[in-house]
Amino acid sequence: MTQLSNKIDSRKTFAIISHPDAGKTTLTEKLLLFGGAIQVAGAVKSNKIKKTATSDFLEIEKQRGISVTTSVMNFSYKGEQINLLDTPGHKDFAEDTYRTLTAVDSVILVIDCVKGVEEQTEKLMKVCRMRETPVIVFINKLDREGRDPVELLDEIEAKLDIRVRPLSWPLGMGRDFKGVYNIYDNTFNFFSPNKQMIEKEIESFAGPNDPKFVKLFGDKAEKLEHDLDLINGVYGDFAVDEYLEGELAPVFFGSALNNFGVQELLDTFIKIAPGPRHRDSTKGLIEPDDENFSGFVFKIHANLDPKHRDRIAFLRVCSGRFERNKFYHHVRLDRNIRFANPATFMAQDKSLIEFAHPGDVIGLYDSGIFKIGDTLTEGEKFMFKGIPSFSPEIFKELVLNDPLKSKQMEKGILQLTDEGLAQVFLHNSSNRKVVGAVGDLQFEVIQYRLINEYGADCRFSHLNFFRACWVIYENPEDISELWRLRSHSLYYDKHGHLTFLAESVYQLELAKEKNPKAQFLFSIEHNSETIELGKTA
Ligand code: G4P
Repeated sequence: MTQLSNKIDSRKTFAIISHPDAGKTTLTEKLLLFGGAIQVAGAVKSNKIKKTATSDFLEIEKQRGISVTTSVMNFSYKGEQINLLDTPGHKDFAEDTYRTLTAVDSVILVIDCVKGVEEQTEKLMKVCRMRETPVIVFINKLDREGRDPVELLDEIEAKLDIRVRPLSWPLGMGRDFKGVYNIYDNTFNFFSPNKQMIEKEIESFAGPNDPKFVKLFGDKAEKLEHDLDLINGVYGDFAVDEYLEGELAPVFFGSALNNFGVQELLDTFIKIAPGPRHRDSTKGLIEPDDENFSGFVFKIHANLDPKHRDRIAFLRVCSGRFERNKFYHHVRLDRNIRFANPATFMAQDKSLIEFAHPGDVIGLYDSGIFKIGDTLTEGEKFMFKGIPSFSPEIFKELVLNDPLKSKQMEKGILQLTDEGLAQVFLHNSSNRKVVGAVGDLQFEVIQYRLINEYGADCRFSHLNFFRACWVIYENPEDISELWRLRSHSLYYDKHGHLTFLAESVYQLELAKEKNPKAQFLFSIEHNSETIELGKTA
């Protein structure tokens, strides 16, 4: 085995995803405790933007700052190098999370046992399903009176369109919660509330009908035996291959806050989660053990300090070895560039790195040369595919208050949209600029930054659009009706793709009916030569 493939095999790059408040931050912290990356609970601050503070820009910036420094957390556990990519907690930054999902090899999905599958869980899982990302489910907060586990599993299968296979099963719940039975090892992990320490009491049994077990739990042991029979009958054996193909999700139960069930989760994770996998590019699949370095930018973060305009571009290494100070090819700009200060980030610390390997994520200081989706290579001219843009859900027109500042506004909005904060659509025949984002918070952040960083005094006025649909067609005649009837709703995105801003579902349906040869897509990949991915609207 070569040195490179050794490095590749020992890396696991993943993200934890959840609906806000399900326990992502708490679980992250507990995983870091196990990895020895932090010593006490409380070291990782929640990067949630408190719901009450939506209009407090300082708070937004402060919170964003926290999420910069914790963007990638690495730790080692039992000989594996683990890269945990942080995702913003607030739903308004969901698109940032979608893009982060393009840089991971697997995910852990946290579900609150009281609330079950929530809106954001569904959206995030859709992205995982599209990419066939392997998923492990952690059902959290078992110390609370939650819903029946069978009912929860049924809901996950129905709403998230994935088959599940529980690997552990809870005994009791809420005040009555006794612990978790490991179905494969026949061990029982006794629950005791414990927020700080890594301690546990696990005992082996012959099965739930073991007299020792029955003596401990009486009727409950009988119920567990019945539950396990049912589960084994309904779900069949756990097949790792199906997990790796993104079709089957193993399920664990626990309580992140009480450090309970977390180690089992982590132990299984390092055993079954995939290492770096090949990535699709415009020249075909790029294997991680390819000797030549390559990687792509999936996230750009603005500097917290407005006096320093520089940003940090996060790059996922896909193949070969990245070296500090070596020249690499920036494919889109057709320029060779070297990086003197590549960094990794851990909690509040950043440290310089000399090398990085496939699966690693590095932060590159960026003076404005990067856009999301940019590819670096050792000279080859290909771009990585698979970094989608999704239709925004809220649209507003950007209006300049001071007409003398139009250059500043133009520059500002282009740079801010390069960071992926929002998308901008330019009207086909007027100066109108429509900004689209997933949540209201982004508009506040953009307006604040345009004023403070670019000196462009501007405001937003609300528009009633339903969705942006990228229009794909072969011949101009295919969309002649669209131009004739809807030219006022036709815009170009930043990459020059024709986009139809539909005011309603009805209008979209009508457009599809009148232009049957065209395709209307809710998502698009800009690096593909041909636009293949994309849910049809
Ligand atoms: P998020 O990142 O997914 O948004 O969730 P986060 O970890 O911040 O957890 C949300 C809330 O749920 C927190 O309470 C956290 O303490 C609590 N929580 C997480 N895991 C468990 C668990 O296993 N059991 C119980 N009972 N609660 C859990 P909070 O009151 O919002 O914040 P805090 O004051 O505790 O920080």
